[in-house]
Amino acid sequence: MQTSDYRPLDVKAIREDFPIFTDTSFAYLDSAASTQTPHPVVEAMDAYYDTYRSNIHRGIYRISEEATDQYEKARQKVAQLINAPRTSQVVFTRNTTESINLVAYSWGSINIHEGDEIVLSELEHHSNLVPWQMLAQRTGATLRFLEITDKGLLDFTQLHDILTEKTKLVAITHVSNVIGTINPIQSIIEAAHAAGAKVMVDAAQSIPHFHVDVQQLDCDFLAFSGHKMCGPTGVGVLYGKLELLEEMPPFLGGGSMIRSVERDISTYADVPAKFEAGTPSIAEAIGLGSAVDYITQAGLASIHVHEQELLKYAHSQLQDFEGITIYGPEPHQKAGVISFNLQGIHPHDVAGILDTHDVAIRAGHHCAQPLMKKLDVIATARASFYLYNTKDDIDRLCDGLRKAQTIMIRRDK
Ligand code: ALA
Repeated sequence: MQTSDYRPLDVKAIREDFPIFTDTSFAYLDSAASTQTPHPVVEAMDAYYDTYRSNIHRGIYRISEEATDQYEKARQKVAQLINAPRTSQVVFTRNTTESINLVAYSWGSINIHEGDEIVLSELEHHSNLVPWQMLAQRTGATLRFLEITDKGLLDFTQLHDILTEKTKLVAITHVSNVIGTINPIQSIIEAAHAAGAKVMVDAAQSIPHFHVDVQQLDCDFLAFSGHKMCGPTGVGVLYGKLELLEEMPPFLGGGSMIRSVERDISTYADVPAKFEAGTPSIAEAIGLGSAVDYITQAGLASIHVHEQELLKYAHSQLQDFEGITIYGPEPHQKAGVISFNLQGIHPHDVAGILDTHDVAIRAGHHCAQPLMKKLDVIATARASFYLYNTKDDIDRLCDGLRKAQTIMIRRDK
């Protein structure tokens, strides 16, 4: 994490940018699933729809040129955010899932063969698991898993045994969406490269919350979503090393991704256009550019420190609840996510009762069923934080949990 842009967040002013928080009694604690949208992001998309809506990369008229310009400016902003060497290394997709599928299909089709191994971890979201299962089934490759310790940290002692000459790819999450663990991604990338493997980083839960520099990490691919960083739904990003993106075949065929088309054969456009077939999510990409401005102006170091404070506070308040189990590592080892269960109350009931108190959390398997199995639970309740959350939100969560315990205990008797 860089600390150069650190200054305390003005959370009161930030909340005023989010119309949903006009209702001051609403505690939104589900930003790991999807964040709220600030005014400037909605305004940027409204400006597109109201004043220059048109298709991009084809119209020879003013508003189409304006739309193309704004779409490409958004790409530049994303490239700067992650410190990509070139803007063309930023491919717009629909979301993290599509970005990972793109790599699994395209890179996987020319690089993964029978007998090869793909290393994942027990922390993976289904989006960084199922595409690799499908690739393994198509090719005869094998998946191997880095396990986690009882504390919810990756068992680093396994890394050097699991990486062999058979390993072609390590696909790993930067931050667990369930228990918040921040993985030592730099060390994993170095070890994977030393073994001759490429590395795909699922950065859906890290990019919104602290500085991530793809050149410093030296990752081969990195994926994230707009809707988890104050941007709209329907737009995500794939970053890749240029030589890898250039050698990869297209994922989807159609308009915009070609150089020339004959009846029987086509040649393809350069990256990133080669991977952006059809009309893309134009307004959404422009909205994502505005979201990058928004979180950059707030300061990613400031966001990270703010979330750390909330996390420590949440731990201190929750740990005294009778019958609570909090999953995952200590607050300083994780991002702004706290997963827990209250003894004798199903997490869906916890979330339902909290909802009646205007507190929104997620409950379920969090698209990470193998991790649930490892934790020996069917589901957890999860509260997650972002730059607009306050300690009041956590106090409301605790009030709601006390009520849940009272209601459920009374019912049980
Ligand atoms: N991946 C999102 C979550 O963890 C949807 O809630």
